[in-house]
Amino acid sequence: MSDQQAKTTGPDLTLGVAADTLVDGKMLAGHVGEEAVLLARYDNEFLAVGATCTHYSGPLAEGLMVDDTVRCPWHHACFSLRTGEALRAPALTPLVCWSIEQRDGKVFVREPMTTTPRIRVAPAPPSPQRIVIVGGGAAGFAAAEMLRRQRFQGEVVMVSDDAAPPVDRPNLSKDYLAGNAPEEWVPLRPETFYSEANIDLRLKNAVSGIDVRRHEVALGDGSKLPYDRLLLATGAEPVRLPAPGMELPHVHTLRALADSRGIIAATATARRAVVIGASFIGLEVAAALRARGLEVHVVAPEKRPMERVLGSQLGDFVRGLHEAHGVIFHLENAPTTIDAHNVTLRSGDRIEADLVVVGVGVRPRLALAEKAGLAVDRGVTVNEYLETSAPGIFAAGDIARWPDVHTGSAIRVEHWVVAERQGQTAALNMLGAREKFDAVPFFWSQHYDVPINYVGHAESWDEVAVDGDIEARDCALRFKRNGHVLAVASIYRDSESLIAEVQMERRSVQTSL
Ligand SMILES: Cc1cc2nc3c(=O)[nH]c(=O)nc-3n(C[C@H](O)[C@H](O)[C@H](O)COP(=O)(O)OP(=O)(O)OC[C@H]3O[C@@H](n4cnc5c(N)ncnc54)[C@H](O)[C@@H]3O)c2cc1C
Ligand code: FES
Repeated sequence: MSDQQAKTTGPDLTLGVAADTLVDGKMLAGHVGEEAVLLARYDNEFLAVGATCTHYSGPLAEGLMVDDTVRCPWHHACFSLRTGEALRAPALTPLVCWSIEQRDGKVFVREPMTTTPRIRVAPAPPSPQRIVIVGGGAAGFAAAEMLRRQRFQGEVVMVSDDAAPPVDRPNLSKDYLAGNAPEEWVPLRPETFYSEANIDLRLKNAVSGIDVRRHEVALGDGSKLPYDRLLLATGAEPVRLPAPGMELPHVHTLRALADSRGIIAATATARRAVVIGASFIGLEVAAALRARGLEVHVVAPEKRPMERVLGSQLGDFVRGLHEAHGVIFHLENAPTTIDAHNVTLRSGDRIEADLVVVGVGVRPRLALAEKAGLAVDRGVTVNEYLETSAPGIFAAGDIARWPDVHTGSAIRVEHWVVAERQGQTAALNMLGAREKFDAVPFFWSQHYDVPINYVGHAESWDEVAVDGDIEARDCALRFKRNGHVLAVASIYRDSESLIAEVQMERRSVQTSL
């Protein structure tokens, strides 16, 4: 649904709606002038907020109302219907709240109201004076934003070895790379945000060590920065191929804005691209390069793209989808050499290429944690509060392995929304909240006009129950073990995905009682 459609949907709420037409727990999409507004009834109280998600403008009327909150159908952001606050990422900006008047059995939506986010941390002295965040990505940014949202008055220093301020990383392989989104959309916030929020953002600055005993970090220039609390959010870096030729200038990996810019610049003259890896990033890059008119070959060792995560049925669908858009697959194969003009495969085939993008997975950036002697087990080990083994040091995002209440195991994932939510929880806990991280993992991926949403976590399963028609792009696949749903992947079944999320949350609440 476009924004324009959202604006003209439903009744004019200033004219009033009969109170008894809206049952408790339900929402009604309407408008006030040109603004799309959502009217909801919860516990016999009427609440009204903007109807367009502040992340990517998802239509909240098609989302799910859960108590006095609404969840976005597209990427599961959650907003308070009372205050408009973006309670859960990926949305970070609040919705506008509207005042309500009830008269003669009717409910009228009146004016936009000023609201303030709920303070979730009871002040527990001594409160930290300086919080240092290592990493300017999803987790680091969400943590800094949450600290200020909670009106933390102390210093917030965010150190990032990237040259760019925090960016919307998922966009780097999607609309931005495809040429459908301008670069202004890529930063998570304008540069002025950091000075206005009094966040000391230090770019192009690598943290080289942590002195756990003295509570200070060492910066690349040799200076030391003391902390009261430290958040490690160093993310992950692309795995490099052992194949000769990886260092050639036309061979790219993709993690940072500069990488995406580099690939875009190369497409100005390149005609034929080889993408190595048929994972999410590899295939999103393939789609973006097709959108820019390049011939695209994908080389990968697996039999089916994404089979390990999405199973064979969705793997076949994704392959067919890309083939229908002209992508040529070379599966069960691998590159042996890359030279200035060709990629030579293990099969002996040679593919001409003037652009090569390597997307063969990432490795969490654990060096700092390892060097500091923190507990590390294929990720930085954290407890349910996202605390590492060292007092005052927290970890979040792609590096963190946390005890997941839903699967009962310690897991580490590489999902944008999880990283942001962990950053938010870590921020609250650095202020003393003692909030457990118990979100159900969620990620999305976009291939051409097909979004794939995935909620839950299944490293292995013994059954995939397919509901709907995958080819018709209307399906939900349930990944089960012993009859138990571990995860749901869906295409254009947003309500089912949201309901599955709530069911997984409630199931684990019941099991832990
Ligand atoms: C192109 C692309 C597309 C993606 N698309 C999706 C998607 O569609 N859906 C999804 O769920 N996930 C997606 N992901 C994954 C998602 O972006 C990551 O899971 C998420 O960014 C992890 O957040 P993070 O904060 O842990 O790490 P990052 O966002 O990578 O941030 C880490 C930061 O730490 C900095 N850093 C590292 N070491 C140091 C140091 N020693 N000193 C100072 N700074 C340091 C880095 O420069 C970086 O700024 C995508 C990833 C990429 C690369
Ligand atoms: S558009 Fe609402 S969460 Fe992304």
